[in-house]
This record gives sequence, structure tokens and C-alpha cells, in this order.
Amino acid sequence: MSGCDVLVVGGSGRVGASTLRWLDRLAGRSSKGTPPLKLAVGGRSEARFEAIRDRLGLPQLGFRFVDLDHGSEALVSAVRGAQLVVHTAGPFQGRDQPDLLRACIAEGVAYCDVCDELGLTRNAKALSAEAIAAGVPAVVSCGIWPGVSALMAAVAVERLGGPETCDRVELSFFTAGTGGAGPTIVSATFLLLASEVVTVVDGVLMHQQPWTERRVVDFGGGIGERECFLLDNPDVFTMAEALGIATCMSRFGTAPGVWNRLFGVIKALPKDLLHQRDAMQGLALFSMPIIRAVDVLVGATNAMRIDAYRKAVGLRLGDKVTLRCVHSDLEDCVGQATAAFALELLRGRFGIHLGEPTIAPGVWYPVELQAVARHNILTVAKENALVWQI
Ligand SMILES: NC(=O)c1ccc[n+]([C@@H]2O[C@H](COP(=O)([O-])OP(=O)(O)OC[C@H]3O[C@@H](n4cnc5c(N)ncnc54)[C@H](OP(=O)(O)O)[C@@H]3O)[C@@H](O)[C@H]2O)c1
Repeated sequence: MSGCDVLVVGGSGRVGASTLRWLDRLAGRSSKGTPPLKLAVGGRSEARFEAIRDRLGLPQLGFRFVDLDHGSEALVSAVRGAQLVVHTAGPFQGRDQPDLLRACIAEGVAYCDVCDELGLTRNAKALSAEAIAAGVPAVVSCGIWPGVSALMAAVAVERLGGPETCDRVELSFFTAGTGGAGPTIVSATFLLLASEVVTVVDGVLMHQQPWTERRVVDFGGGIGERECFLLDNPDVFTMAEALGIATCMSRFGTAPGVWNRLFGVIKALPKDLLHQRDAMQGLALFSMPIIRAVDVLVGATNAMRIDAYRKAVGLRLGDKVTLRCVHSDLEDCVGQATAAFALELLRGRFGIHLGEPTIAPGVWYPVELQAVARHNILTVAKENALVWQI
């Protein structure tokens, strides 16, 4: 087993490989004479690891065998000796046990993931007391969205004067085509179309039908107005729980418009079928040639918009804060954002000289991070952004 500082489980995949590329780039910049971070891929296939190592041009990249379905003992020994585990091995839909986080807590290893499945995120949060006892800092549902989106929402709420003065937050996302995504993100989207959407309305947690409540959202420069629909996003629940925002929801749209129609058709398929991970992966693989062809035409842009509304006082309607950001490539910016969260977890720890730690032991949602950590992560996410109105 190779020694490593950061183990990226799912590192042979698209999000994982992009995270490794950014970790190498960012850690190299901030190393200030310390030895370079030792990075490793955790996965089930050495052949796929070798292909990614060569593609990334990182000959020092290590490999550890990790299969999430091989039981807890195997996971504990897989993470042993690492400083940080980054979990990108999706799809997360269909899983409800945070086994990898449990293994990290057992071994005293810091942890983050890109989980976009609310049930799993909440079960991970329930391990916070154990993480505190073990001195382990962990952040769940990192990445660009969920992740940076929640940090943007926290900034917007703060700018309004804090949670006491804000009573509604709306999150909107647009990705051109699939954002150049692979079959896993496509199948994760199919699985989400089978999941009820958690929204919070006037303080009440609601379960709504996905791909409803169409709204046209202006994403600004270069993107313009796009139609968006309700789709589940852990940011909604974490915002409501952590900040007590009374009304919160999240919408997503893609292009071309025919994809939005197609998602509406897929949503109408029998739920039993939509909940089958293998069937959805199969459907995603089957659809890839046409998805790829469309992606070539529409690009891979990722756009996010956050609207936070001030509570109305008397007859005076509340004003609002709107934040926007756009990156040219979804896969690249997910890795960039995930690496930013990962490096923040390493800051001031494990002999890595990046100042003082900014994330205390415990399991945190991104929206709960302190202002300094939030600022540091957003500063990384800003790099290469086409639009950054934050
Ligand atoms: N938060 C965000 O901003 C954000 C944005 C986009 C996507 N995501 C999430 O990122 C996830 C990954 O997407 P992707 O496009 O990178 O997928 P991908 O290319 O298919 O990669 C998935 C990786 O997971 C590994 N894996 C799958 N099952 C495993 C298991 N049982 N044990 C160990 N490894 C396993 C695979 O490794 P093997 O080589 O072993 O098969 C593969 O390397 C998606 O689920 C998506 O929901 C999050």
C-alpha cells in the first residue's frame, strides 16, 4: 500500500481526476519549500488508475485498492495513514450509510465528499460528535454545487444582515448540455428525477415533485435567461437547518431546451425503474453518444445564481442580494472547488504550512464554515471564473 497524504476515492473518475489535477496545482503553489503533497487514487481498478495517472501526467500518483462495498474493516485499513480522504466515488444516490467517513473517524483522518444525496449527507452529519471526539474535521457535500453554492448563499445572507433579516433563499443552476459530464453524473441526474425534492416553505419542510415549478432565471453575462425546474439539492436542507432560513429551494436547467423536455419525460417513467442504479447507469451509457454530440455543440458551461431576500417590514417590501458565478467547464470547476475544500481541511494541519486551521473537528455542512474558511475557498473558486459577482 502506497503512503499518501491525500487519498481521492473515485480518483479515476471525472470529478476525482479533476480534483487531483487541482490539488496538485494548488498545493504546489502554496508548498513554500515543504515536501509536495503525496496524492493517491482509491479505486477498484489498477488499470483505470494507471490510465488516469498517465493522463494527468503525475508519475508520483499512488494507488490504494478501495471498494466501498467491501465492508468497514477493508475501508478502515484503506484510509489508514492518510491525512485526508476526498470521496468522489458516486453516484451517491441509493446509498445511505457514510461508511467511508466512519472509517476516517476510526483512523483519525480528515474527510470531505462531493455527496449530492441529502439522506447520506444528513447521516454523515449525525457522526459529528464522534468526529469531534476523534479530533477529525470533515465537510460533507463539497464541490461546486452543492458546495461553493452554499458558501455563496451564506455570503448573500450575511450581506443582507444575517439569518435574522433574511427569510428566503433561492438557488438556481444552469449547465450547458451535461457540462461534459460522464455517465455517472448523467445517471445521478436520472436518479434525482426519481427523488422528491426537499424544499422549505415558511419554515415547513416539504417534499415536492421534481422537475416542476418552472421559472425563467437570468444568469447574466453570456448565459442570459434560462428555464429552471425544481431538483433536489442538499444545500436547501443544510441552509434551512444551519441558518434557519424560512423558505429555500433549488432549481436546475440545462440546454438545449429539448433536454429539459426529455428530463420531464424521464421523470414520468415508473419510479421503480428510476430508482435502479444499474438501470440508470445503463440508460446513461446508452445515451452517451447523443449526449456527447450535443455537448460538442453547446459547450460545458456551469452557471450559478443565488437570490437572498430580506424580510418585509410593515408595508415595505424586502430588497434582495443576487450573486452569480459562471465557469466554462463543469468538470474542471467541480475539481477546482473540491480541491479548495480539501486544502482548507489541511490548512495548518499535518505539517502543511498554510497558516492556522480554519475548520474545527466535527462534521460540517459548507454553509456552516466560518468566514475565513469560506473566503479562502471562494478565492480559489474565483480563479478562471467567467463571471464572478460575489
Ligand atoms: N458536489 C458537486 O459539485 C458535484 C458536481 C458534479 C458531480 N458530483 C458527484 O460526483 C460523483 C462522481 O461523478 P463522476 O462523473 O466523477 O463519476 P465517474 O467518472 O463515474 O467516477 C466515479 C468513480 O467512482 C468510483 N467508484 C464507483 N463505485 C465505487 C465503489 N463501489 N468503490 C470504489 N470506487 C467506486 C469509480 O472507480 P472505479 O475505477 O473503481 O470504477 C470511478 O472512479 C457523481 O456521483 C456526482 O453526483 C458532485
